[in-house]
Amino acid sequence: MNSKVERFNRLLDLSMDYLEDGVRREHREIEAGAGIRKEDSLTTIEAEIAACSKCRLCENRNKTVPGKGVLNPKVMIIGEGPGAEEDKTGIPFVGRAGQYMDKWMDAIDLKRDKDLFIGNIVKCRPPGNRDPHPDEIEACRGYLERQIKILKPSLIMTVGRIAAQELIGSSSGIGRLRGRMYDYMGIPLIPTYHPSGVLRNPENYRKPVWEDLKAVRKFLDSL
Ligand code: URA
Ligand code: SF4
Repeated sequence: MNSKVERFNRLLDLSMDYLEDGVRREHREIEAGAGIRKEDSLTTIEAEIAACSKCRLCENRNKTVPGKGVLNPKVMIIGEGPGAEEDKTGIPFVGRAGQYMDKWMDAIDLKRDKDLFIGNIVKCRPPGNRDPHPDEIEACRGYLERQIKILKPSLIMTVGRIAAQELIGSSSGIGRLRGRMYDYMGIPLIPTYHPSGVLRNPENYRKPVWEDLKAVRKFLDSL
């Protein structure tokens, strides 16, 4: 168990039930199965992604979107997959949702070029922005795990249901999952809503997102 997570959950007076939903089982599997080669690097991973045809999402992509940001980021943000703008440019979260997310980060004093690495569960755009299928997520997962091992973020923030469910290892909805901290590969993880969901329904989601962002800031300040 990650003691930072434990301490922080106590700090927020959150329940210690964060090992429910098979999180513990999930982690053992990840630790056992995720050996990386010594010479692995972000550039190697990017090149592999650019040439990847491990799932059907390679068929319609224009550019792969491996993720972008700094090494040892304060926060690694993980979304579900590239949209139209990202597919055109190869850069994550540059469309409307991404620009809105930049404002979230501004509000807690975090900058893309200094504090963040932003990536996605799948690196190629699902046609029509549909949800990525389980087999596509599975095919792509190794890249994300290798990126996390190299990046060593202080904290992971997932945005949206898909990324939260995938990394927490739970099928609960995002409304149930958010509001506390988890542990992914030994790294504290805070889930929140997806910026496009918040843009669609600000009355319901803006407030909880702000709570989650404050939790992110508070955790970083406690380090
Ligand atoms: N939505 C995502 O989940 N990821 C992106 O990169 C852009 C929009
Ligand atoms: Fe490969 Fe991932 Fe793209 Fe599928 S989504 S083709 S696994 S890089």
